[in-house]
Amino acid sequence: MSIKALEKAVEIAGGQSALGRLIDRDQKAIWAWINTTQKVPAEDVLKIEDALEGKVSRFELRPDVYPKPKPLDKIRIIGGQELNGELPISGAKNAALKIMCAALLTDQSLHLENMPNALRDIDSQTELLTHLGCVISSERDLMAINAKNVKDFTAPYEIVRKMRGSILVLGPLLARFGEAKVSLPGGCAIGTRPVDLHIKGLEDMGAEITLEGGYINAKAPKGLTGAKIVFPKVSVGATENLMMAATLAKGETILSNAAREPEIADLGECLIKMGAKIDGLGTDTIRIEGVKSLSGAHHSVLPDRIETGTWLIAAGMTGGTIKLKNARIEHLSSVMGLLAQSGMEIEQDGEDIIVHRNGLRLKGIDIMTDPYPGFPTDLQAQFMAMLTLAEGAAMVTETIFENRFMHVPELNRMGADITAQGNSAIIRGVKKLKGAEVMATDLRASVALVLAGLVAEGETVVNRIYHLERGYENIVEKLQGVGAQIEKF
Ligand code: EPZ
Repeated sequence: MSIKALEKAVEIAGGQSALGRLIDRDQKAIWAWINTTQKVPAEDVLKIEDALEGKVSRFELRPDVYPKPKPLDKIRIIGGQELNGELPISGAKNAALKIMCAALLTDQSLHLENMPNALRDIDSQTELLTHLGCVISSERDLMAINAKNVKDFTAPYEIVRKMRGSILVLGPLLARFGEAKVSLPGGCAIGTRPVDLHIKGLEDMGAEITLEGGYINAKAPKGLTGAKIVFPKVSVGATENLMMAATLAKGETILSNAAREPEIADLGECLIKMGAKIDGLGTDTIRIEGVKSLSGAHHSVLPDRIETGTWLIAAGMTGGTIKLKNARIEHLSSVMGLLAQSGMEIEQDGEDIIVHRNGLRLKGIDIMTDPYPGFPTDLQAQFMAMLTLAEGAAMVTETIFENRFMHVPELNRMGADITAQGNSAIIRGVKKLKGAEVMATDLRASVALVLAGLVAEGETVVNRIYHLERGYENIVEKLQGVGAQIEKF
């Protein structure tokens, strides 16, 4: 196959990303292939043709023939630039990941808009759903998922270990097919993160669940039955898994002490468009009346409130005026009050938010994370990065995850003065941070280091940007667009 034929294949498949997903779901490999290969070996021509005819959904590209581009895994930032201009907010990762799983509940297509599709976590979820038998096509921020031919009900360890969000296939698979086998996600950098509430809730709905060889084996041959479930602890993922499972259960399910995050309401809105009967979204009591089947739907994913909050904090740290395009200020009310107290001016302009610092040094204030509508744990690291430069002392208390202070030693290496003990940290504001080579072990800690780098004196190098790419779409390009001196290398 010549490069021309390959280009034709891309065209037939509906774009490089679509061909990438048909072949090995790796767009970068397709790019590398197109850019570096003049001839494609005959065996691979057959594979591509089979993929394009729908005979196979996956095969591996041979790394010797189609070398993957060398991953860029560091970011260099020269601090001290004011940020000014417009920043587009992407669709919410933590809504999109769950809504993709909702597609498993129906044999019709789910059409999604405003998908944050340049994210590793979305790629991992795509890989998992494709492995189960879904047909997925995506182009820019659009994605279509069809789960008509799902025949495999196992979410394997190799995929689940990359991203805990894959546990969200458990409820939908069990509800529609009566069985599911999902690898236990295990702990992660921010804590042990058990899934007992997901399992207990599904058992209350009649599922038989055993744990074997690191897998959750769940069966409900006669289908799930509605139940009254009172969560002993607020859990985003358990609320979502059980809400999805309940849409196809017999009778009514009531979820009490449910999580109220806007991403859960967005998932619920999508399920309602698919024909589900759900009441109480956004409150701590969600009622779901099971229906026999769900249909396809069109849904636009809500804007990412955590990305929005991250850039609000960036503006506070660097000075300048940023307009955040397509953001929802109402989803950040707990954060807005605190940002205003510390000295930022924030105004709403239709769907946009305009933010700048009031010209004075920011003031230190105390924060404590809590389930929504409290202060989000996913903004704790970024807020702490901001407090390192505020006037006076501040205290940050993390109540959701037991090990979410990995950014502390790294920020201290940049000149911050933070003492962490247990789940609290005291931050004594310093006048300036100094650039350094830093490394983080989770998504939000990584972005906190990028924020610190934007204001630090000199050069900051952030290693393992893999973490950032899990959750921040085009972060380097977006920050360059508002004047940051930042590059990947
Ligand atoms: C979601 O994780 C988010 N992830 C996290 O986003 C976010 O930090 C978290 O909610 C809290 O807001 C996704 O949406 C993919 P939980 P989730 O169940 O659902 C304990 C990011 O950076 N718990 O609400 O896993 C748990 O250990 C991330 O984007 C149990 O004890 O969080 C934690 O202490 C990371 N048993 C607390 O509850 C369970 O069965 C809250 O966890 C489930 C949870």
